[in-house]
Amino acid sequence: MEYKRLGKTGEKIAAIGLGTWKLGGSMSPDYSHDLEAVEVIRQAVELGMNHIDTAEMYGAGHSEELVGRAIKVFPRDEVFIATKVWYTNLRYDDVLRACERSLKRLGVKYVDLYMIHWPNERIPLSETMKAMEKLYKDGKIRYIGVSNFSTRLVEEAQSNLSITEIVANQVEYGLHDRSIENDLLPYCERNGITVTAYSPLGQGRIVMELKAKTKRTEILQELAERYGKTPIQISLNWVIWRENVITIPKASKREHLEENAGACGWRLSPEDYELLSNVWR
Ligand SMILES: NC(=O)c1ccc[n+]([C@@H]2O[C@H](COP(=O)([O-])OP(=O)(O)OC[C@H]3O[C@@H](n4cnc5c(N)ncnc54)[C@H](OP(=O)(O)O)[C@@H]3O)[C@@H](O)[C@H]2O)c1
Repeated sequence: MEYKRLGKTGEKIAAIGLGTWKLGGSMSPDYSHDLEAVEVIRQAVELGMNHIDTAEMYGAGHSEELVGRAIKVFPRDEVFIATKVWYTNLRYDDVLRACERSLKRLGVKYVDLYMIHWPNERIPLSETMKAMEKLYKDGKIRYIGVSNFSTRLVEEAQSNLSITEIVANQVEYGLHDRSIENDLLPYCERNGITVTAYSPLGQGRIVMELKAKTKRTEILQELAERYGKTPIQISLNWVIWRENVITIPKASKREHLEENAGACGWRLSPEDYELLSNVWR
């Protein structure tokens, strides 16, 4: 596994972690695949993909319960737990209560990264950030992050923090979705903020396109042969190519996990990175 610096901190975080949306249900809990889910989370940690991303919203809390069950066999500091507060819980007291519930479901005393899942323009960010900083001061969260925040909102969130900084913004990014490249990505690069790319495989859309063999998947196949990797590994390597970008593909199958873990520790050449960027634009 390859590790990158988180924001401007001294923390090292896996370049490729594990997403858990739909492990344990979507909007409501699904208990039917619990054993497999716990197994896959443990396998991820064993493969060094120790950045596990979850949220209070995933499976209405069941995803956090599964992460908690999975990680209890590891020393706490071997796992980097990232979770998120839902956008309806952004009032001061609601943030504190939501975090307590997440800690309980996860069975831990602190989470490593606590993020605002989506902005909510109806609740002043100043109020939410005050609660985030209280959790930070109380040692309930080690780092503060945001998700789905525009440049303007990241700036506003940061301006409401006095003793710590925003370390990460989790946003959609992959060959299929390049919208952050114009503004947000360079802003984060300049300001030492990690971009956590979610849905790096377009929730399976890239896999479907590979099966359909389009013009732009030809280049993925070609590079895969040249580098001795798979087209998925080429796609994920492209995502984490820039220094401040990490990613969290979701996988529920061991072979997918292993393939994803093998997408780092090496680099596409600058020429091939550009080539791929242009073909998929
Ligand atoms: N902050 C936000 O608003 C937000 C929004 C969306 C997602 N996220 C986070 O980002 C994570 C990842 O995004 P995502 O789940 O939306 O989509 P994704 O990671 O782009 O795609 C997941 C899909 O790709 C498949 N897959 C994974 N590795 C594969 C491989 N090597 N070969 C073939 N198929 C593979 C998975 O299949 P299997 O399950 O069968 O292995 C699953 O169907 C989420 O789980 C969540 O933690 C955050």
